[in-house]
Formats: sequence, structure tokens, C-alpha cells
Amino acid sequence: MGERVLVVGGGGREHALAWTLARSPRVDAVLVAPGNAGTADEEKCRNVDLAATDIDGIVALARDEEVAMVVVGPEDPLVAGLVDRLDEVGIRAFGPSAAAAQLEGSKSHCKDFLLRHAIPTGDAATFTDADEALAHLAELSAVPVIKASGLAAGKGVIVAETGDEAAAAIRDILVDRCFGDAGDEVLLEERLFGPEVSVLAFCDGTDFQVMPAAQDHKRLEVGDVGPNTGGMGAFHPSPNADDELLERIGKEVIAPTLQAMIDEGRPYRGVLYAGMMLTEAGPKVIEFNCRFGDPETQVVLPLLESDLLDVFDACIDGTLADLDIRWSPRSAVTVVIASAGYPVRSSDPTPIAGLGAAGADDRIVFHAGTRSIDDVPHTAGGRVLAVTAVRDTLAEAADAAHAGVSAIDFAGAQHRTDIARATAEVSL
Ligand code: AMP
Ligand code: GLY
Repeated sequence: MGERVLVVGGGGREHALAWTLARSPRVDAVLVAPGNAGTADEEKCRNVDLAATDIDGIVALARDEEVAMVVVGPEDPLVAGLVDRLDEVGIRAFGPSAAAAQLEGSKSHCKDFLLRHAIPTGDAATFTDADEALAHLAELSAVPVIKASGLAAGKGVIVAETGDEAAAAIRDILVDRCFGDAGDEVLLEERLFGPEVSVLAFCDGTDFQVMPAAQDHKRLEVGDVGPNTGGMGAFHPSPNADDELLERIGKEVIAPTLQAMIDEGRPYRGVLYAGMMLTEAGPKVIEFNCRFGDPETQVVLPLLESDLLDVFDACIDGTLADLDIRWSPRSAVTVVIASAGYPVRSSDPTPIAGLGAAGADDRIVFHAGTRSIDDVPHTAGGRVLAVTAVRDTLAEAADAAHAGVSAIDFAGAQHRTDIARATAEVSL
């Protein structure tokens, strides 16, 4: 008999995780808590109506259903200690402990860690008092990036262009508390310049293996303009990250981080996601995330040829060095479709048409913010769907993914028509 696994979360990343695990011959059933309309329909998958942050509920579900492994998608339950709680009751879990997840949970903690261990990053100063922060701002020769230290659903970073904007951001966070407790502390961080690249690695405490690099698109609109989002699309291979660069970042960032985490008594197991800026002075860390990326997961996991459950087992058991993780040499493109108002406000549930055609021709439609109402899929969140295509060339993958997106129809849908296209040299 095969195994039963539980995926925690309900976004596009978790649909991609559930889809990939369901393809494992070792897996009989994938529970997803809470999941979405896409995971509800996926073969071998079953949704359970529990919030990802309901730690007691998730532990009880894992125990009652006798799952072989829990895979935690989002950062909040990791930072809140879900993996530690599962460990305590003897349930295998993929993801870092709460102590290790602090690398994402607190930006001031992460910055101290990086500086303490001489891992390349920009300078920063941390403040809890607005007057002190403003006084420090006045002394700086260049306008810093302003960051709320805690988890702010990806919204706590303000890349200010002027000193006035930076001062306003400091007041918004520390005085007006626009990010609540996430803004108890504020970082004034040296602004770095250069192309960005995300490097994600499977880690088993001691060893790591870097995944194929995916290029994310954070801005809402074509041409990389408009507000920052969680990510509007991604593609592989990334023009910013060849094998040599990935090896360098592995050596200069991931390896010393794993060693430092061992030295500090909190070995890092799970996915370490290093957000890097390729500056003239070399690659520097902008931030660490303690989880898979979204939408990077939707573009990278369809390229995995090994069994994902074997990879997670190796991370938990500390045997990653013995595992040969195989990846397809093909190209992949993921284009996200968001609802009206994203990323500023949410919109009412809206029926979605065209899912069948979008998924034709070997495309994969990963759901994110969707929910079934009277058996009809409706929008239920900011990022609604992601269409992924895997092809022999990047240009073919881009064409296929964009064709899939064109088939989707719902009121107010937003997507970028240039994902992977500038690089693939395909005209719009
Ligand atoms: P984060 O939420 O930390 O991923 O930040 C969001 C975006 O802000 C990043 O993807 C960068 O584009 C930008 N950013 C964050 N920190 C810096 C920095 N120190 N210098 C320049 N840009 C930054
Ligand atoms: N795509 C950015 C993130 O997952 O944080």
C-alpha cells in the first residue's frame, strides 16, 4: 500500500506540490489543507477545510489520518512552529523548525545573522523608535530601503526613491502601524542595484542541492512597472543565473548559512530560498525565505524527474548527499492570472470559464485563489490561477503558456503578456 501525505496551504505553490506528490508511485493519497478548487479536482487529492495556520487542527488531522509526511507550503505555520509540533508527536514533516524559520520570520534577525557570519548582504540599521529612525535617515547619504521586520504577507518592503518617501514609510510602519505587529521594528537597509535572482535549495541540515533557477516577475504590469506583487509569472532557464553563478551562490551563501545554522544549534532542513541581487561587488542576499517560492514552484516542479517524496525523505533523514535529483533539460514558463484589484484590494467571487482549453496541449493549470460554488470554479483571492507549459525551447514554452492564459475568461482578470518573452525574443 502507498503512503498518504498532507500538504499544508491553499495557493498555487501548494497545488504544484500536491500535483507533483500525486505523481509519485509511492503516494496513494494527498490531503491538502485547505487547498483550492484545483486541488479538490486533482487525482488522488482531497481537500480538508482547515486553515494553514490552525496548528492544533493540522497536527490532529495528520495524526487521525496517519499521514506518512506533512509538507508545509507557506511561511506563517513554519514560523509559528508547526514542524516542531509535528516532530514532538513523531510525525515526519518537511520544512524548517521555528528557530530556523526565523531567517524569514524576522528581517532584523536575518540581517544580524548575515552580518554576524559575514555572508554577503547590504548594511542595515534596525529601529523601534520613529524619531531615532528618522534621525538616522537624515544622516544617510543615499536613500535606504525601508522594511517592516516581521511577516507582512510580502508587503512590508518600501523601495523609496526620495528621503521624504522613506520618512513617510518609517512613520507608516512605526507610528501608524500599517503592518500591525509586523512593524514593531523597522529596517533602514542599504539599497542594492543589479539584476535579481532567486536561488532555491533543498537542504538536509548539512548538505544542499540547488534547484533549477527560475526568474520571477514581481511587478504587476508589462515592462516591469506598476506595484509589487507576490509574483506574476516565472520562467526557466533564467538569463540571470547560469550554472557557474548558482555554484558561486551555493558556495558563498547557502553553504556558510547551513554551517552557521549548525553552529547556532538550529540546523536548517527544508527549502532555503535566497533572494539575491547581483551587484557590481558580487551577489548579495536581499532576503531569505524558509519555503518554496510562488510562482517559482509552479515552473520548477514540472521539470523534476525524480520522485519528490524521495527528495523530501532525504532532506528529513540527512541523506541528500546520496541522492541524485534529476531534472528535465527542457524550458518552462508559468503565467499568473490575478483578479480585479490585485494587489491592492480583493474582489467578489467571479465565475471562471475556459479552464479546459487552458489545460489542453499538455499545459498545466495550477489553481491559487479559487473556490467551487455550485460546482462552478470562482475566483477567491488575489492570484487566481497559473498556467504552466514545458517545451523544448523557451520561446515555445512562452507561446504555449500565453495561449493557455488567453483561453481563460473571468471579469477583471489581469495578467502580463511579457513573461519570458523579452528573453525568448518573441514579439508581443
Ligand atoms: P522582499 O519582500 O524582501 O522580497 O522585497 C521585495 C522587493 O524589494 C525585492 O524583490 C527587491 O526588488 C526590493 N528590495 C528589497 N530589498 C532591497 C534592497 N536592499 N535593495 C534594493 N531593492 C530591494
Ligand atoms: N515569488 C516570491 C516569493 O515566493 O516570495
